[in-house]
Amino acid sequence: MTTCYINGKYKPISKSSVNITDRGLQFGDGVYEVIAIYKDKLVDLNLHLKRLKLSLKKIDLKINLSEKQIENISLKIKKINNLKMGIIYIQITRGNQSTRDHKYPKDLKPNIIIYSINKNLDKMELLASKGVKASLYPDIRWLRSDIKSTSLLGNVMAANFAKKNKSHESILFDYDDNITEGNSSSIWIIKNNICYTHPVSYRILKGCTRDKLIKILRTNNLQFKEKTFSTKSLLSADEVFMTSATNFIMPIVKIDKKKISKGKPGPISLALRKKYISAI
Ligand code: PDD
Repeated sequence: MTTCYINGKYKPISKSSVNITDRGLQFGDGVYEVIAIYKDKLVDLNLHLKRLKLSLKKIDLKINLSEKQIENISLKIKKINNLKMGIIYIQITRGNQSTRDHKYPKDLKPNIIIYSINKNLDKMELLASKGVKASLYPDIRWLRSDIKSTSLLGNVMAANFAKKNKSHESILFDYDDNITEGNSSSIWIIKNNICYTHPVSYRILKGCTRDKLIKILRTNNLQFKEKTFSTKSLLSADEVFMTSATNFIMPIVKIDKKKISKGKPGPISLALRKKYISAI
């Protein structure tokens, strides 16, 4: 039985619940993080905890747990559930409010949930060796995608469009026909040995895997640019890949009907995946 942390207590997931007046449930008024557990470690933990703190600040949600305490709870959950590979999920919502109102009072007690999910991330290795298909989908989300908010309807619709089209991910394009990111990943292209990804802005989530990869690119003297690129550039790229906590670096070899790098993972994407995995 999987144990979760909920508002100060450790309980079996099956015996844990939040109140129906939870603002997360009613308004999507909350933030979250997904952290991979790989080779018995919490991957890029500090980056995720920093981003969580930033998301909380951006929505003016104060909690009385420090980063260190959240880290300790996450490690405890991993230990209790004897998890070697999978994810830690952290969700913080603004709390319960019985008088349903978009406006929130100052004194709500946030609902804090942390649990783990067993996932065979090694399966991704096989997927990465073949590369995955992606679908193009309009970026219909709100304009603050930099906040890792639990309001994910736009992402859910994009992800299920991908599913319908037998794709691994949807790649989102904005009104100017520029690529923002994936339904739950950062998107990268490689053209003439230069890596490109969308610059940090309100329109994308600043991925922790993205941050780590930029560090790797810098230390290896590889060229990269944080620069917007169009759907046309995406489709004519030498290589395309996505990054996220659960995919690491995943080559994309087909976008809708268009093959990328002759339908096989490109050499740079695969080399970067290797470097990333050895760095974590
Ligand atoms: N998603 N962009 C979006 C919209 C995301 O949802 C994610 C991650 C990323 C990549 O961020 P990171 O490298 O920190 O995982 C970019 C997680 C995995 C999820 O929602 O399940």
